[in-house]
Amino acid sequence: MNKFFTKHFIEGLPKAELHLHIEGTLEAALMFKIADRNNIKLNYLNINELKKAYNFNNLQDFLNIYYAGANILITEQDFYDLTWAYLKKVQSQNIIHTEIFFDPQTHTDRGITFDIVINGIYRALEDGVQKLGVTSKLIMSFLRHLPESSAFKTLEEALPYKKWISGVGLDSSEVGNPPSKFEQVFARARKEGFLTVAHAGEEGPAEYIWEAIDLLKVNRIDHGNNCLEDDVLVERLAELKIPLTLCPLSNLKLKVVKDLKNYPLVKMMEKGLLVTINSDDPAYFGGYLNENYLRIAEALNLSKTQIAQLARNSFKASWLSEKEKEKMFSRVELYLKNN
Ligand code: ADE
Ligand code: ZN
Repeated sequence: MNKFFTKHFIEGLPKAELHLHIEGTLEAALMFKIADRNNIKLNYLNINELKKAYNFNNLQDFLNIYYAGANILITEQDFYDLTWAYLKKVQSQNIIHTEIFFDPQTHTDRGITFDIVINGIYRALEDGVQKLGVTSKLIMSFLRHLPESSAFKTLEEALPYKKWISGVGLDSSEVGNPPSKFEQVFARARKEGFLTVAHAGEEGPAEYIWEAIDLLKVNRIDHGNNCLEDDVLVERLAELKIPLTLCPLSNLKLKVVKDLKNYPLVKMMEKGLLVTINSDDPAYFGGYLNENYLRIAEALNLSKTQIAQLARNSFKASWLSEKEKEKMFSRVELYLKNN
């Protein structure tokens, strides 16, 4: 396929997104707009100056900028506007289902209450279903650089909103904060009926992926790139059909990989891993979901069949019911018949 047809094919393809931090969709323009209405002065003169800071050598470089950016989110309307802007993008990219992370501690630790955060996000997600036809699930992510006690407190705060939250996750600074640190709080979350995922093997070792599976009993691994260090682990992930939510442009920007031409996507597919493509923090990494599909398709010269498989995988790895998944698969097959 030439570049034009690949782009066209990807743009129209129905797909799901499974690894997306809502705070990571805060576009520079919206950041200035919300900061202005909240009378907050940013450390940057304008959008161009801010974007010049989006040069990262590693995950921590990015997280410092990402947490600073989130400081302008104060009111329920701010969280609504943030989520709504993402959902409009989702609809324009033919993403028909999305499972998004939010990081409550980023906000509650600076005095914004849990209910302000979740009410704003959830109201937008409901409008997304009604007005845009986009279905969604919400995943509450614990910040792993904070102590487990803080995660427990957050879990308590979330319990009244249990029916709005499908699962819990684990993100932020990985190295030095292994999944084992959160074994108890994940056990409690599972007992309360939450599904579980965890970022593992982005910068951390394969050992952290083992811990996420064995100790946190996750349904999916976010990133998981470093599983390739350990053949036994790869076999286990394939056997248990534990999906990996890969994020190519994120990995490039955070220097997890040097060049997308060496991205291990096809290698992982050949090893029988259930891999998906996602955007992670698109406002900071230079592209939403379609840009991730396109850049990786070009770098690896993916065929139409391989791209279609990635879209099927996105639904297979989702938390939709089997019946809902069947509906999504037929939408993909219908598209393939006509394109
Ligand atoms: N929080 C937002 N994006 C993240 C990433 N890529 N890794 C860990 N924590 C994150
Ligand atoms: Zn992430």
